[in-house]
Amino acid sequence: MKKYTSITLSAQCILFFLLISYEQHLSTASENAANKMYIVYMGERKHSDPSLVVDSHHNVLATVLGTSKETAADSIIYHYKHGFSGFATMLTDSQAKMMAEMPGVVDVIPKMVHKLHTTRSWDYLGLSFSHATNNPYPKSNMGDGIIVGVIDTGIWPESKSFSDQGLGPIPSRWKGACVGGDQFNSSHCNRKLIGARWHNKGVAKGAINTTVAMEYFSPRDAVGHGTHTASTAVGSLVHEVSFRGLALGTARGGAPRARLAVYKACWNLPGRPGACTNVDVLKAVDEAIHDGVDVLSLSLGGPALPYMASIIDIGLFQAVIKGITVVCAAGNEGPRLHTVGHVAPWIISVAASTMDRSFPSPIMLGNNRTIMGQSQFTGYKETGFRDLGCPGDFTDASSCNCEDAVLDSRMKGKVVLCFTSAAGVNNSNVNRGLVNINLSGVAGAIIAFYPTQAITCYDWHCIVVDYDIGAEIYSYTRSSRKPKVKLSPTKTLTGKPLATKIADFSSRGPSDLSPAILKPDVAAPGVSVLAAYVPQEENLHQSFAFQSGTSMACPHVSGIVALLKVLHPNWSPAAIRSALATTASTIDPSGEPIFTVEEPQRVANPFHYGNGIVIPNRAADPGLIYDMGNTDYANYLCSIGYLNSADCPSKKPSMLNLNLPSITIPNLRGSVTVTRTVTNVGSADSTYVASIEHPLGVKVGVKPPKLAFNSTVKKLSFTVTLSSNQKAIGGYYFGRLSWSDGIHKLKHPMLNLNLPLITIPNHRGSVMVTRTVTNVGPVDSVYVASIEHPLAVKVGVKPLKLAFNSIVKTFSFIVTLSSNHKAIGGYYFGRLI
Ligand SMILES: *[C@@H]1O[C@H](CO)[C@@H](O)[C@H](O)[C@H]1NC(C)=O
Ligand SMILES: *[C@@H]1O[C@H](CO)[C@@H](O)[C@H](O)[C@H]1NC(C)=O
Ligand SMILES: *[C@@H]1O[C@H](CO)[C@@H](O)[C@H](O)[C@H]1NC(C)=O
Ligand SMILES: *[C@@H]1O[C@H](CO)[C@@H](O)[C@H](O)[C@H]1NC(C)=O
Ligand SMILES: *[C@@H]1O[C@H](CO)[C@@H](O)[C@H](O)[C@H]1NC(C)=O
Ligand SMILES: *[C@@H]1O[C@H](CO)[C@@H](O)[C@H](O)[C@H]1NC(C)=O
Repeated sequence: MKKYTSITLSAQCILFFLLISYEQHLSTASENAANKMYIVYMGERKHSDPSLVVDSHHNVLATVLGTSKETAADSIIYHYKHGFSGFATMLTDSQAKMMAEMPGVVDVIPKMVHKLHTTRSWDYLGLSFSHATNNPYPKSNMGDGIIVGVIDTGIWPESKSFSDQGLGPIPSRWKGACVGGDQFNSSHCNRKLIGARWHNKGVAKGAINTTVAMEYFSPRDAVGHGTHTASTAVGSLVHEVSFRGLALGTARGGAPRARLAVYKACWNLPGRPGACTNVDVLKAVDEAIHDGVDVLSLSLGGPALPYMASIIDIGLFQAVIKGITVVCAAGNEGPRLHTVGHVAPWIISVAASTMDRSFPSPIMLGNNRTIMGQSQFTGYKETGFRDLGCPGDFTDASSCNCEDAVLDSRMKGKVVLCFTSAAGVNNSNVNRGLVNINLSGVAGAIIAFYPTQAITCYDWHCIVVDYDIGAEIYSYTRSSRKPKVKLSPTKTLTGKPLATKIADFSSRGPSDLSPAILKPDVAAPGVSVLAAYVPQEENLHQSFAFQSGTSMACPHVSGIVALLKVLHPNWSPAAIRSALATTASTIDPSGEPIFTVEEPQRVANPFHYGNGIVIPNRAADPGLIYDMGNTDYANYLCSIGYLNSADCPSKKPSMLNLNLPSITIPNLRGSVTVTRTVTNVGSADSTYVASIEHPLGVKVGVKPPKLAFNSTVKKLSFTVTLSSNQKAIGGYYFGRLSWSDGIHKLKHPMLNLNLPLITIPNHRGSVMVTRTVTNVGPVDSVYVASIEHPLAVKVGVKPLKLAFNSIVKTFSFIVTLSSNHKAIGGYYFGRLI
């Protein structure tokens, strides 16, 4: 097996260092500067007895540290001993290198900080959960008996979404625990919330500071994210979720009778609400495998390193081969391509779509430009053109922060624009500022949200916009001598069919690590999703909140998976993924194509939504499935170089033949033939006929074009040959292969068993990655990039200079790495500072 993450092309190491130095910056002095925290990953367990596994950890660490076994035992931060073998410990650079050479050690990975996948949040209140109508509830008994593990920021156990009313006993196979701590004890678990654990040893000592950022040393959620994702997946029915006369219906999760096990591994750090280290997340995965969850839901991820497998995904592999279906958020790094996370073939990576409702509020600027905001407030009339400015005297830009707003009669009758400040903000202060703005008698307020916030904006004339739109309005106020704005009533477009769109923040494929694997796999609603939340202030209504992100899309799929597990207890994780993917829709209910949200709008493609938007009803009865087993996954690990050639077939397996419900061919020149095998899970005697939409300039042949199943023939293979006659290099070409039996075809024309075909001419060469940084230092700071180039790799950074101010707290930059290496393999180090 390969060690020390030597998997890859040269260039990944640049970002590798960037992240490490960032992390060190976050650490406090209490961590020994010479030592860094590492995960020592030892792969599958060599002993069934956990104490022997632990002993093997002590032995290998004692050898490397040159100490006694007892001393070694004391320096272990975590043992990973249930789902796989490994441990976390502090090592110097040279010890880490030595460790990588030790027998049995697969990989030595430095600690990294991951983040939650919510980009935007609103605190609109009380609308019905719109995704429930398509769920195959009755037959699946709403997921009863299935255990869904959620690795996130913990749980607010008092929320009605976690009530166990009407539920039977805890499944007897459950081996988990309810581990208490601050304001949480075993009495907070029940027949719904059957397990709760917390893991924070990966977080630097002192980094959790409850006087600066609220946090509980227990499974209790201080952020809201974990409560939201858990209730989206498995929340119990909560009737009469309504707000101020708006009859808003029943809130519920995808599988309202499934049981919940919570693993808190993400923490509210000052300036970083919901930071998760790979050290803690891996511990949560290990415990969840031990406890006996059926589904694991992870709405977290990143930093996605190009060409590099993530240790979390490798740990999740051990979960999947034990039959646990793993669902992850694709990431919120869109709309750029090459940003998708959790690209391993054993994981279901979920993109975020809009739902068929929205609350657009037109904002017309004095220059006649109209911008759409969102508002939940329906009680106002058009304002007519009003003066527009920041809180206070309308001139001082630095006072354009919502939380600084004081009562000020100069705002009376005007429209006020304000920005909520960066992450880690105390929401109470923001809300106090907003109350001051309202009580000053404004005609309206435009509130630019920091992405991860929840604030109150529902019972007065306020409109929320994202930071980009806020910045646009702000620049208009600076460019016009008498800035004006007109606000119009919100149009509630709930009743009409709205085009389904893929959210702009949703991470896009293709995957750099494995371009032959289509990621994301599927899309699910992830914009303005209503679910349970931690109570904000004393207002009990606020225990429900709208949130947006692939974080919200992921638990939709986790809930649906719980239903499928009841309906088809013997399906493998790959079979479940296949059922979700091949029945997913690429058109919206009105028959229109699915678009992307960003301007200019484009028709979405498989790099946006994978196979399409999940349709639970159809996934329950997919007809055919593309199954995969451990050998397929091992072949994948060989093909990305994670396994050494000694552990791989002598002929390097081709990723093109992984039995995925999609066919992606990077670098198509001439002709390529791939094989797929389908298993009939529908009626025994059925015949499926292939139909093809050709990618532009590509000939596609399917052999055989007809698959006849009967009671003895349940599995059939077919080949697909794609021949390109393209001269051009670059671009992506999309097609589709559908298998239809007569009956299904009548029912679902064009939707049955859709299999995307993608060709990517000339994928190699240069790669572009995007990173976003948030300024947590002095407000007005300018950072300039400097680069040490890895050998024979050209590195470009755009922009080279990041200028932060009181408005601009977050910047994205692009790093382009172009290799002119001929050889593959080896390490080349660089640094971006
Ligand atoms: C657990 O906490 C609840 C309230 O927070 C308290 O009423 C109860 O006595 C505690 N139970 C135990 C076993 O400590
Ligand atoms: C928490 O942060 C405050 C303010 O920065 C500081 O005074 C205090 O010492 C910190 N507490 C701990 C436990 O580090
Ligand atoms: C937020 O600020 C309010 C008022 O300044 C204070 O009462 C509250 O404790 C703060 N909350 C947190 C989590 O720091
Ligand atoms: C805005 O539109 C109105 C009516 O169409 C027009 O009279 C006015 O000149 C326009 N203003 C600008 C700045 O273009
Ligand atoms: C906004 O102000 C109005 C009166 O101007 C008041 O009735 C209302 O309660 C206020 N709402 C909030 C959230 O402050
Ligand atoms: C199923 O199909 C195979 C191949 O066409 C055929 O040999 C076999 O007899 C069929 N079995 C039944 C039960 O019809």
